[in-house]
Amino acid sequence: MRLDKLLTEYGYGTRSQVKDLIRKEKVTVSGRDKPGPETAVSEEDRVFVNGEELVRSEYEYWLLYKPSGYLTAVTDRLRPVVMDLIPSKRKDLSPVGRLDLDTEGVLLVTNDGMLSHQLLSPAKHVEKTYYAELASDLPENAAQLFASPMVFSDFTAKPALSFEKITDRSARLTICEGKFHQVRRMFLKAGCEVVYLRRERFSFLTLSGLKPGEARLLTEEEIKKLRSAVKE
Ligand code: URA
Repeated sequence: MRLDKLLTEYGYGTRSQVKDLIRKEKVTVSGRDKPGPETAVSEEDRVFVNGEELVRSEYEYWLLYKPSGYLTAVTDRLRPVVMDLIPSKRKDLSPVGRLDLDTEGVLLVTNDGMLSHQLLSPAKHVEKTYYAELASDLPENAAQLFASPMVFSDFTAKPALSFEKITDRSARLTICEGKFHQVRRMFLKAGCEVVYLRRERFSFLTLSGLKPGEARLLTEEEIKKLRSAVKE
């Protein structure tokens, strides 16, 4: 992989910022004299930025601000998929759970199958917060409805962890389950069709700093925190 691309993937800045770092000789590669942005680096090469080694891990953890219109899938014959938005060459990455085609928001993408499995396990109670806009006014008893179990033909949703009415036609809902279309179905139970849905939070991860369609690698600290969120 080109050196400038590697540094971009590891979050050292945009392509032009990392090219600048390389030109200013802040980047060294083992055994290479004055590497350039185009220098090819392999897995074996040791790369240092400002004297600190860039540690390449077998796992990658991406946080994507999924935009509407992208399928939560690795490939599709017709439609764009979320993986098109992940600037990584790895072929073994996949999304953690799914968001509907027209849902926006926080989506994790990783090749750490174990962590992915744990984050999706109902037993781990990972919290997700959704912001929803509705086609009709919320009923008077909305808070009460969301605070109670909701019975569907295929499962019973646990009471929401929190429900906040924002306006007559918008609300924020936090749940720790992730059944198919769960949020839309819960609002429908309350008599409201969801016309816009955005996942604002997945565990402690939010959309802060990202625009729709943008992705970033998680920091080491965030990865540790995620692991401890699903421990025990
Ligand atoms: N619940 C839904 O109904 N849709 C989503 O995309 C996510 C949660």
